[in-house]
Amino acid sequence: MARIFITGSADGLGLLAARSLTKQGHRVVLHARNAGRAQVAIDAVPDAEAVLIGDLSRLEETQQLAAEVNALGRFDAVIHNAGVYQASGPDLFAVNTLAPYVLTCLIQKPQRLIYISSGMHLQGDASLSPITAGKGRIRYADSKLYVVLLAKAIARHWPDVSVNAVDPGWVPTKMGGRGAPDDLDQGVETQVWLAVSRDSDARVSGRYLFHKRVARDHPATNQPAFQDAFLAVCEQLTGVRLGPGTVRT
Ligand SMILES: NC(=O)c1ccc[n+]([C@@H]2O[C@H](COP(=O)([O-])OP(=O)(O)OC[C@H]3O[C@@H](n4cnc5c(N)ncnc54)[C@H](OP(=O)(O)O)[C@@H]3O)[C@@H](O)[C@H]2O)c1
Repeated sequence: MARIFITGSADGLGLLAARSLTKQGHRVVLHARNAGRAQVAIDAVPDAEAVLIGDLSRLEETQQLAAEVNALGRFDAVIHNAGVYQASGPDLFAVNTLAPYVLTCLIQKPQRLIYISSGMHLQGDASLSPITAGKGRIRYADSKLYVVLLAKAIARHWPDVSVNAVDPGWVPTKMGGRGAPDDLDQGVETQVWLAVSRDSDARVSGRYLFHKRVARDHPATNQPAFQDAFLAVCEQLTGVRLGPGTVRT
């Protein structure tokens, strides 16, 4: 039995992942943006161990959330799932990119880290200019390219952890919309599998997966210099630093 923390689990793919994992007998801690959404989450997944609260668009709340996760003890896996699509540049950056960075840095290292990105990251700006030119410039695609970059950077710095990014497909959630063409169940299977499976294929690291298979990612996300420049900008913006690890060469 594994213990998993899932961000943004009051709705959509986060909620479905939580349901799937509790149904398999795993211990799941949910997360929601406020008390009202936390109640919705726990009502939807009554077998969850707990629900934590924190608005990921706010740095102080994200830091506090990490402290509350740590107060619950060690987790085997964290699924960085929460995300926004129709939001301002600063909110897209804060929720989709900076929050997973900050939580990764501050939560006790788990054995597995999963970051939900998007196929749209392929259209992202493969540079730091959307950030350095003012965060208002950041689009969804950019924020999700940074998610893949973050996953690959952490995978390289923390070779003792299995760290991967996932494209769930375009699926019918609140974000994806009712007409989304891809299969919702398949949209959640990969992150659940990466979180708990003993399959050797699920113990990979530094990969970008779609439906349990390695998929084409933006080549720039594989450049160590770009990864480290991104980590440095995140550290500068948040004052939070990634802990030590041996760099994978
Ligand atoms: N659906 C798709 O087609 C699709 C495609 C590619 C990638 N993705 C990615 O998949 C992930 C899950 O998306 P989804 O489709 O399940 O969307 P969703 O149904 O809108 O769920 C997103 C979750 O994130 C939470 N969240 C958003 N902003 C937050 C904040 N400031 N603080 C705390 N929690 C916050 C939401 O809380 P509330 O419920 O309170 O709003 C919700 O629980 C996202 O990272 C998304 O970018 C989705």
